[in-house]
Amino acid sequence: MKIHTYEKFWLAASMLLIVGFILTVTYGSVGLGIAMINDSEETIDPGTVTDHDKFGPAFSGEQAVYQTGEDEYDVYIVAMQFIFRPGEIEVPADSTVTFHLTSADVIHSFSVVGTNANTMVIPGEISTMTVETEEPGEYGFICSEYCGDAHHDMEGKLIVTPEDEFEMEDDQ
Ligand code: CUA
Repeated sequence: MKIHTYEKFWLAASMLLIVGFILTVTYGSVGLGIAMINDSEETIDPGTVTDHDKFGPAFSGEQAVYQTGEDEYDVYIVAMQFIFRPGEIEVPADSTVTFHLTSADVIHSFSVVGTNANTMVIPGEISTMTVETEEPGEYGFICSEYCGDAHHDMEGKLIVTPEDEFEMEDDQ
């Protein structure tokens, strides 16, 4: 069988394309470090997640920000229809901040506007996300997962304070 030169060329080109697609998909799924929320951990009861007696002050809204080391902080936020609690969070600049998020009802998300900080917030599970804060400033955060009538009202404010002005509100 004789294969025409053009046909050979297009065969080779389409093979290359297929290999290219496989490479980009592979890179996108393993190369960028993007992962689904770990579902191998113990689940929690979304209905009682804000219960102080069960989970302590972190998700009950009493204290959201904890210092865990030099320039290291943990932040605990509960998403629920249609607020984040707390809705305003202050963390210092030039720090490593780990957000711990869970939902008290349905699936929400936590997306810091203008940054790549973004995670789904799933009832029964705690999503964690670590970010480096750089310049002081104010950032909005929103829910980017449709969660009901007032989904568009779900927002909050992340205040990154200059390091020397930052004070912990409360000591644990
Ligand atoms: Cu919560 Cu959309």
